[in-house]
Order: sequence, then C-alpha cells, then structure tokens
Amino acid sequence: MTQDEMKQAVAAAARDYVRENLSAGGILGVGTGSTANFFIDALADIKHRLGGAVASSEATKKRLEGHGIRVLDLNDVDGMGIYVDGADEIDHGLSMVKGGGGALTREKIVAAVATTFVCICDASKRVPVMGRFPLPVEVIPMARAYVARELIALGGKPRLRENFVTDNGNVILDVHGLSITAPAELEARINQLVGVVTNGLFARRGADVLLLATPDGVQTFLR
Ligand code: A5P
Repeated sequence: MTQDEMKQAVAAAARDYVRENLSAGGILGVGTGSTANFFIDALADIKHRLGGAVASSEATKKRLEGHGIRVLDLNDVDGMGIYVDGADEIDHGLSMVKGGGGALTREKIVAAVATTFVCICDASKRVPVMGRFPLPVEVIPMARAYVARELIALGGKPRLRENFVTDNGNVILDVHGLSITAPAELEARINQLVGVVTNGLFARRGADVLLLATPDGVQTFLR
C-alpha cells in the first residue's frame, strides 16, 4: 500500500465517522494538508448532510468550494460537532505537532471550537516522543529575531521558513532539535513569548479520536 493509498483509506474512514457521528445539518471543521485534501474529496459523498463547513486555511476553503460544499465563517457558527485534520506527529496521549503546511493558527482556532477533534494520519506519524519533526511557531515579523533567541534559550534550533508567509501575514520559525516529553507545558511556555501568535503543539487541546492508516487497515485510538 502506498502512502497516498493509506491517506485515502483514512480519509474514507473519517468520512464514515462524520456520517455516523455528526448530526444532520451539523457544522464540520476541516483541516489543511495532503491528508485533509483526501478527506475533502471523500466528503463530497455526504455533503448534502452538512449544514456547512469551516475551513482552517484559504487552500482548504477553495477545495471545499470546488466540491460545492458550503463554507461558513467561524464567527457565524455557534458551535461545531467535529473537526477533522491531519498531523505531522502524534504521540500516544494524542498530543500533536501540526503546522507543516503553515496553517497552525487557524487550525488551532477552529479546533478550539469543535466538540470532537478527529486526527487522520498514516502510521509513520505516530511516535513515542515528538520533536523529530521541527516544531512550527508562527511569529509576528518584527519579533522574529527576539523569538528566535528565546527559542534557543529553551533548547531549540529555530530556522526561518524561507519564502513563506502565513494566511495571517506572519512568518514561521521551525524549531529543530527538541525532545518534547511535556507537550502541554512546552506549548504554554512558547505561547507566552511576546510576538508568538501560536505554536504547532496541540496538547492542551489534543485529538479525541485518532484514525490511523496502517498497511493492515485503519485503526482507531481514543484519548
Ligand atoms: C497544516 O498546517 C498541517 O498542520 C497539516 O495538518 C499537517 O502538516 C499534516 O499534513 P499532511 O497530511 O500533508 O501530512
């Protein structure tokens, strides 16, 4: 099974999860990335059941609209039953590193509103300790050098993501060399740095359900 076939399998499983668990006319949050893209394509099958979708990026909005799925502004919804998104890494407590595609801040905002966060990824993303994938930190441009120095003081090796601007007009520092043994603490610590918009650790609000694609089929893990 190729990696794309595994992503397609887990995307189909997430569509089935939504069909079974989101009430008819409910609002669905949709993440960003290649696995989320497969999910959006699979979602077209059940679009008539949705009250609408909230997108976590401009790219996701465009793809949803391409399938004729109604996209709502987050400020116009009172709540959201389910949010579905990929991850760059996920540990056994269902904390995640996200933001490889640079959409971490909007993803975190949409995830905060959702009752249930469903993470979809292939087995290569599940790790005992996160940190091998560089941790993305979205930073207001004038604070870039200051935040980089503070991240070095925390033991990381930040690198500016070249030629990249987020949907919010900010830059990303990718922090290498971390061994993330206390994800919720590190998430809070980095978010307290002045100039940081948010960081890609999703530990305080981790996933509730993990649908994990393996060569033997899709496995389900609960928080
Ligand atoms: C986007 O900013 C990210 O958080 C993605 O959700 C994450 O990088 C997973 O992407 P892939 O499904 O493309 O691996």
